[in-house]
Amino acid sequence: MAEQQKWAEESSSKVLEQLSGKHVLITGTTGFLGKVILEKLIRAVPDIGGIHLLIRGNSRRNDAQTRFLEEIATSSVFDRLRQENGKAFEVFLDEQLHFITGEVTQPRLGLQPDAFRNLAGNIDVIINSAASVNFREELDKALAINTLSLENIAGLARLNPALAVVQVSTCYVNGMNSGQITESVIKPAGEAIPRSPSGYYEIEELLRRLDDSVADLRSRYSGKMLERELVSLGIQEANRYGWSDTYTFTKWLGEQVLIKALEGRALTIVRPSIIESALEEPAPGWIEGVKVADAIILAYAKGKVTVFPGKRSGVIDVIPVDLVANAIILAAAEALGEPARQRIYQCCSGSSNPLTLGEFIDHLMAEAKSNYAEYDLLFCRQPVRPFIAVNRALFDAMMSGARIPLSLARRTKRMLGHKQDLKMLRNLDTTRSLATIFGFYTAPDYIFHNDELLALASRMGEADKELFPVDARRIDWAVYLRKVHLAGLNRYALKAKSKLRPRSPKAREQVA
Ligand SMILES: NC(=O)c1ccc[n+]([C@@H]2O[C@H](COP(=O)([O-])OP(=O)(O)OC[C@H]3O[C@@H](n4cnc5c(N)ncnc54)[C@H](OP(=O)(O)O)[C@@H]3O)[C@@H](O)[C@H]2O)c1
Repeated sequence: MAEQQKWAEESSSKVLEQLSGKHVLITGTTGFLGKVILEKLIRAVPDIGGIHLLIRGNSRRNDAQTRFLEEIATSSVFDRLRQENGKAFEVFLDEQLHFITGEVTQPRLGLQPDAFRNLAGNIDVIINSAASVNFREELDKALAINTLSLENIAGLARLNPALAVVQVSTCYVNGMNSGQITESVIKPAGEAIPRSPSGYYEIEELLRRLDDSVADLRSRYSGKMLERELVSLGIQEANRYGWSDTYTFTKWLGEQVLIKALEGRALTIVRPSIIESALEEPAPGWIEGVKVADAIILAYAKGKVTVFPGKRSGVIDVIPVDLVANAIILAAAEALGEPARQRIYQCCSGSSNPLTLGEFIDHLMAEAKSNYAEYDLLFCRQPVRPFIAVNRALFDAMMSGARIPLSLARRTKRMLGHKQDLKMLRNLDTTRSLATIFGFYTAPDYIFHNDELLALASRMGEADKELFPVDARRIDWAVYLRKVHLAGLNRYALKAKSKLRPRSPKAREQVA
């Protein structure tokens, strides 16, 4: 009898049990990760009480429902749901999906006081995925969305003592720290910031200073010049405190805001590493947009970049988007069952299934060499030159060494009346600008650990390990990078662009 009961417990999903009848608010569903979380909840948790989507209006569509219908519902992320049970999907959208037009950077998320209070009373958990993921965002914009907006999220949570918050952060809040990085509050690698006895960092004074610096720039510049100055200020301040860019600096600040504002409350911070295409769900390779590593892959495929600063032996931490969505859903289910605790989980591959930058490059190059024709939107022709990662000092020397003769050649061409820019010089500029934005990420000097997340998956049990896998050990990197990711980039991320240029009849067949 006891055996049977044990088996019944092990074979039932705790996640489904916890989420049954519950209401979840999600932000950021017009984005890449938000769409995958939404799709998985609809497909795997049909008994959920309701899903509330907070979406801001934009210049073309001014309310959440219109943006959902035109930008989210039309996405190929839902192809599987439509194919497997289109009718049930439509019924779910009609009955269990709710729309809130709101702006996370505004007080009360831009809602009237009554609407804000009602929202807090109607939901059980908030999954906050909205962010600016622009590494070189203007400092004031990055602070508004990645840091200060979290006061508004906390304000909503405070109205309902049972409300849990799951904050999507990033492993790269680690900044310039090196070594083994565990699932804990990160100490800045640069200038010291005071730490509270509870463990979070006291950032009020720092935020006031950043605000003053932004105000000072606003009083002195305007237009494009002001934008450039605000971007530079962000990088400068990030570097000063130990981060390589404004994005990760402001995400770290955001973690501190939430940890302090929700002390003694249910808060789970989930930190993914570099999120790439789906391993399995909703379809192998599903991806939207051209992300960090993909911008470099694309530039190589187009013959624009063949050398990059990087450390071949460094562990580049990539994690498929479906494993991230599953980690967030596990975290939400746990927070509902065991509130009033703060937790941090890293969703990453570095410690359990490490992939070095060298292996990453070699897999992609091998596939590009032997099968480039299968990826017609990615490769116009077989790449002739290898992609080489060199150390930063050598890269900088190579760039300045090549620039002088190329600039001279351009000047000569111009004197002879040729208006077109030299292609080689354009490629050099592309390489330099990609290296400025992403160079930090291709020379990793840290290993992200996910022991806590794996322990959570074990606590949830075997059924949830199958339904909501999070373990990066299930990734075969050769298969994933060569057969899943490149195909996904070609099929999903580049499809929209494909209409812009004519293709051969053979190429058209392969895409269909
Ligand atoms: N992509 C990665 O590799 C990666 C890695 C680690 C962590 N993360 C984290 O994962 C989360 C999702 O990233 P993603 O790649 O899905 O980003 P994304 O595709 O750029 O989506 C960002 C989302 O945030 C929303 N948003 C931005 N500003 C907003 C505002 N002021 N009010 C309301 N919504 C706003 C955007 O809505 P609009 O359409 O209205 O702009 C969009 O839905 C972020 O928190 C990010 O920090 C991402």
